[in-house]
Amino acid sequence: MSEKLPPKHIAIIMDGNGRWAKSKHLPRSSGHQRGVRSVRKIVKHCAKIGVNTLTLFAFSSENMKRSDEEISVLFKLFLTVLKNETKKLKDNNIKLKIIGDLSVFTPEIQSLAEDAQEQLQSNNGLNLVIAANYGGQWDITEAAKKIAEQASTGGLNPQDIDPALFQKYTSLAKYPQADLLIRTSGEVRISNFLLWDIAYSELYFCDTLWPDFDEDCLNLAIESFHSRDRRFGKRNGNT
Ligand code: IPE
Ligand code: IPE
Ligand code: MG
Repeated sequence: MSEKLPPKHIAIIMDGNGRWAKSKHLPRSSGHQRGVRSVRKIVKHCAKIGVNTLTLFAFSSENMKRSDEEISVLFKLFLTVLKNETKKLKDNNIKLKIIGDLSVFTPEIQSLAEDAQEQLQSNNGLNLVIAANYGGQWDITEAAKKIAEQASTGGLNPQDIDPALFQKYTSLAKYPQADLLIRTSGEVRISNFLLWDIAYSELYFCDTLWPDFDEDCLNLAIESFHSRDRRFGKRNGNT
């Protein structure tokens, strides 16, 4: 593993739970359950190696189109995780932020989510961001809505709207821009995950299915990140 500093912000599209289960002749629910194990490992590892922010795509706005049965499994799992993992996160100095349109979740999940974020408020280690019923397009349109409201009441001059101002209205405004975006399971697409925030992210795709993704897989992704020449439009790192 490289001695270099890890990326400040890693974002992961945790994909492949269903295919993992299928390969083992198990129900899809087992794949999602095993996926939680990978989440635990990766959160712990990111905290250990000093990542500032880890954003995990747990449930997309489009995942609401899945069967009622699968949605119910995913909601129950979210509830169980919120109930059982908050104390562990607290003990590991991890702060939690949940982004997405939470209105689709049951009142119990919404209140557990609120409590968990509140309880972890004073922690100052890894920032763990969970994207639940999240869509990158939703995030951008929500920001646009807030800006339009401000402009219409005279609180904001439309001429002052620029990328820096727009950023302030997005879900991840308080976090560093995503340095590294990882997607597991061999799919090479964004599936409406972070859009605004990945403008200059390094992209890393691997074939490993999420329930098999572990610390070594993450280290490989970070190694790949360190081999990239991030030019940000310049001719090399400096000019
Ligand atoms: C990712 O695994 C988890 C969620 C989308 C909630 P999938 O459920 O998409 O698994 P595959 O892609 O069918 O293997
Ligand atoms: C993206 O995976 C969402 C999550 C991993 C939470 P999907 O499996 O839903 O994406 P598509 O449908 O293959 O693009
Ligand atoms: Mg999938």
